[in-house]
Amino acid sequence: MKKINEAKIVFTSHLSNEAFARTAVAAFVATADPIMSELAELKTAVSEAVSNAAVHGYKDKIGYITVKMRLYSDFKVIITVSDKGVGIADIEKAREPLFTTSKSGEQAGMGFTVMESFTDGLKIRSTVGKGTTVTMKKVFTSKDGVK
Ligand SMILES: Nc1ncnc2c1ncn2[C@@H]1O[C@H](COP(=O)(O)OP(=O)(O)O)[C@@H](O)[C@H]1O
Ligand SMILES: [Mg+2]
Repeated sequence: MKKINEAKIVFTSHLSNEAFARTAVAAFVATADPIMSELAELKTAVSEAVSNAAVHGYKDKIGYITVKMRLYSDFKVIITVSDKGVGIADIEKAREPLFTTSKSGEQAGMGFTVMESFTDGLKIRSTVGKGTTVTMKKVFTSKDGVK
């Protein structure tokens, strides 16, 4: 399908930027006129990916997070969230519901599960010491109700 729009934002891993990223993605997809529930799902998935990059990728450091957005003519949107942080040693394990390496008790280990269930496809690429890229696909219901 034809790519009809593309954007990229780069921001520091301050947690306040989770809201910025989520809002930027919502503004980007506005031209596709998504139904509210699908937009809310995408925004939640983006929040989870961005908070993972900040909390796990960079931990106590501040680094850059990149969010790329691509919109296609068939109401499909592809979002990638990348960091150059610590990376993930075992991606399969990280994807398991309730798995977390966080010791603070604030992370429930459900981020990847949420991203998976709120999108139409989740891919994780990661190299230890180099960083992580999460790619999410979301297909919006078109105005005539077709997926
Ligand atoms: N961007 C990332 N960089 C490094 N590790 C990550 C990243 N995203 C996720 N992880 C690892 O995957 C685990 C599971 O992530 P998630 O399902 O979001 O649960 P939670 O964030 O609650 O721990 C994290 O605990 C962390 O170990
Ligand atoms: Mg998480």
